Amino acid sequence: CMGRSLDSPCTLAILVGFQFAFVVYFSLGGFKGLVSVLVRSSDPEFDYSKPHDVYTNLSQLVPPPNPAETAGIAVATGRGHLKDCPETSPLLVGPVAVVLSSSLSLAQIQERNPLVLPGGRYLPPDCEPRHHTAVIIPYRNRQAHLRALLYHIHPFLQRQQLHYGIYIVHQAGNATFNRAKLLNVGVKEALRDEEWQCLFLHDVDLLPENDHNLYVCDRKSPKHVSVAMDKFRYRLPYPQYFGGVSAVTPDQYLKMNGFPNQYWGWGGEDDDIAARVRLSGMKIIRPSVSVGHYKMIKHRGDKGNEENPRSLRFDLLMRTRRNWNSDGVNSLTYELLSKKLEPLYTNLSVNIGEDPRKPQKKPLDTSS
Ligand SMILES: *[C@@H]1O[C@H](CO)[C@@H](O)[C@H](O)[C@H]1NC(C)=O
Ligand SMILES: *[C@@H]1O[C@H](CO)[C@@H](O)[C@H](O)[C@H]1NC(C)=O
Ligand SMILES: *[C@@H]1O[C@H](CO)[C@@H](O)[C@H](O)[C@H]1NC(C)=O
Repeated sequence: CMGRSLDSPCTLAILVGFQFAFVVYFSLGGFKGLVSVLVRSSDPEFDYSKPHDVYTNLSQLVPPPNPAETAGIAVATGRGHLKDCPETSPLLVGPVAVVLSSSLSLAQIQERNPLVLPGGRYLPPDCEPRHHTAVIIPYRNRQAHLRALLYHIHPFLQRQQLHYGIYIVHQAGNATFNRAKLLNVGVKEALRDEEWQCLFLHDVDLLPENDHNLYVCDRKSPKHVSVAMDKFRYRLPYPQYFGGVSAVTPDQYLKMNGFPNQYWGWGGEDDDIAARVRLSGMKIIRPSVSVGHYKMIKHRGDKGNEENPRSLRFDLLMRTRRNWNSDGVNSLTYELLSKKLEPLYTNLSVNIGEDPRKPQKKPLDTSS
């Protein structure tokens, strides 16, 4: 191809070749597209601009009418004959629309979820589930958030074909909120009910946006799940972040001695939990960012849940390095006031005590 003339067939071929390369380049979406084709990222891509309704595919779950039953003959409802659910649920749709404030009442939400059993339990009607997950939600005075979560999470989890239960852990009284201790209580009480294989630790104001984000545990490692929250522009706010939604197996939970009992007020306890994971010799895994999308319901800070000052958080974290072995599930004390199986959730109402550091009403001693 060393000809000197510009209109030689060879030059023409080179020009056409370049043109073709450009067309390919731009049709792949420019540089980024080219990189993703060459590097072959394993992350699935999802189109969040066209989400499905969160109740998609659920109407077909109603079990077929039993001819014997309709004939008026009582039939034992044994599940023994059911096949295992498929490895991947055929009901998944990917991104789902999130309704941040549900105008429906609890009774109306219940109507939309006819297969949910008392206490917020569920078993797939047509197959034997492979996974058994308790969702544990520390809670106080967030009725509107709870309704939005229940409206969303029930169909979300049903499409994943899980055996699941929803537990809210209601902190009774007016003492400062203590998320980590409430989680300890929730885990203990949930495991009294059933042999859950996976414990999802879930804030009440976070709604998952993609049903491929499976509410299932990793056998080896604790999993941080809410890796891409809208509040943080769908990125991790910092690399060790462990807040929002995370998941542990009962074994992992015991290995890290559960969670700290002394984080009263907002903030810091999630960093402590992350530290426990590392101190007990485990690592944190995460789903891909394209799957772990969450929307957060906006709200003002709550009374009785003031943000902890940084210095206090730091002190507590230092303490954990020394005493995570002695403060946790093995030192947990509380009083279960009531346990009610509501139609869409189990309500554990507990007295977990008060922050011993908090000065009582009028501190006479002002020297500290
Ligand atoms: C679930 O819904 C999607 C979207 O509407 C549909 O393409 C898919 O076939 C449905 N799956 C089943 C098992 O019906
Ligand atoms: C909590 O505070 C409310 C309103 O301030 C009060 O009516 C109630 O008695 C308090 N409850 C307890 C257990 O102290
Ligand atoms: C849970 O139970 C407690 C104690 O009966 C009650 O005060 C609280 O309102 C209940 N919370 C919810 C969300 O049902």
